[in-house]
Amino acid sequence: MDVISVIRTKRDRGELSDEQIDWVIDAYTRGAVADEQMSALAMAILLNGMNRREIARWTAAMIASGERMDFSSLARPTADKHSTGGVGDKITLPLAPLVAACGAAVPQLSGRGLGHTGGTLDKLESIPGWRALLSNEEMLHVLDTTGAVICAAGDGLAPADKKLYALRDVTGTVEAIPLIASSIMSKKIAEGTGSLVLDVKCGTGAFMKNIEDARELAATMVGLGTDSGVRTVALLTDMSTPLGLTAGNALEVRESVEVLAGGGPADVVELTLALAREMLDAAGLKDADPARALADGSAMDVWRRMIAAQGGDPDAALPVAREQHVVTAPSSGVLTRLDAYDVGIAAWRLGAGRARKEDPVQAGAGVELHAKPGDTVTAGQPLLTLHTDTPDKFDYALKSLTSAYDIAAAGTDFTPNPIVLD
Ligand code: URA
Repeated sequence: MDVISVIRTKRDRGELSDEQIDWVIDAYTRGAVADEQMSALAMAILLNGMNRREIARWTAAMIASGERMDFSSLARPTADKHSTGGVGDKITLPLAPLVAACGAAVPQLSGRGLGHTGGTLDKLESIPGWRALLSNEEMLHVLDTTGAVICAAGDGLAPADKKLYALRDVTGTVEAIPLIASSIMSKKIAEGTGSLVLDVKCGTGAFMKNIEDARELAATMVGLGTDSGVRTVALLTDMSTPLGLTAGNALEVRESVEVLAGGGPADVVELTLALAREMLDAAGLKDADPARALADGSAMDVWRRMIAAQGGDPDAALPVAREQHVVTAPSSGVLTRLDAYDVGIAAWRLGAGRARKEDPVQAGAGVELHAKPGDTVTAGQPLLTLHTDTPDKFDYALKSLTSAYDIAAAGTDFTPNPIVLD
C-alpha cells in the first residue's frame, strides 16, 4: 500500500477500501505517513466526503490505534455526554454530578478550549488544587467512589485522533462532518461508556452554523454509536447566543455552582435537566428525578466529593480577574441578538482561551452578560462586563463586540430561540 494512491482515490471522488483506511490510519499513527500527506487526505475528505461504510471503518481504525477502557467492574450503568462545543457551555459541570446523584456512573473525558470555544478542563482548573490528569486507575477509583469523574483523556485513547485533530486544526480541515463524527465517536467508543447523549450545537458559536448540517452530524454520530453497541441519542441545541450569563473559566464554575445550589440562569438549568433526563433514560434509569436531585442538594454533594477526590477544594474562593470594563447599552429597547461567536472571541482575547495548545489561560478572564435576547434594556445600563488580568487586552476584545448585539425599539415582539431545537 502507498499513501499517494490513497490520497488520489479520495481526490478523484472514489471510495476508500477498508484496507486503505486501516493502513493509512495505522501508518499515520506510527509516523510512516507524513503530516503533509495526511493533511492532503483530510482536505480531500473535507471536499469529497465519505459514505457511511468509510466513516464507520475510519472510526474503527482510530479506536484500534489505542487502548479501550472497561467500566464493566462498576455496579452502576455508565452514561456520558458530549457537546460539540460552544460559548458559555459549562453544562458538563452541573450535569455530571447531577446524573451521578440519580444513580448512573458518569465518566466524563473532557477537553480544553481552543479558539473561541471554552474547554471543561480549563474551567475546572480554576478551582485551586483540582487535577485534570488522572491515571486510568485513579479515574476508575474517583468514578467508583463518587459516581462521576471529569478528566483529560489519557494518551493511550485513540492516539490517531489526537494526532489528526491537531493537524486538522492547523490545515483548515476541522469542519468536515465525517472527520468530526469519527473524531468524537472514536474517543467515546474507546472510553467504553454504555450510553451516550450528544449535545450537537447549532448557531454562530458552534462548528455547525445551520440546522441541516447539525442534523447530519448528529445522525452520523448516532449511527456510529448505535452500530458499536453504545445506546446513543442526540439533541440539537441552540448556540446562537452564549449559554447562561458567563463565558470564561472561573466565571463559569461560579455559575455552575449556582445551578447545583438550586439557582442559576434558566437556560443552563433547562439544558442541564434536558440532557440529564436523556442520559438517565439511555442508562435505563427512567424513574430518576433530576429536578429533585438539584433541589435537595444531592447533586451538590456529589460535586463536592468529585472535586475533592481530584485534589480540588470545593470551598476555596475562585480567582477573580484584576480589571473589569463595563459595556453599556447604547439605546433603550428589546435585545434581539447577542452573538455567541463574538462574545466567545472577546472572552478568548481577554485571556480565557488560548491561540496555541501550549498557551496558558487566565482563570478569571471572560465576559459576564447582564441581559439575554428577549430582555428589555435601558440606554446606559450595563450590557456586558469584561474581565481580565491584562487590561491592555480590553481594546482588542471590544473590537470583536462592535456588531455583537442588536437592540430593537421598545415593545418589539420578539421570541428568543428555544434552547432545545430538536
Ligand atoms: N471535537 C472533537 O473531539 N473532534 C472534532 O473533530 C471536533 C470537535
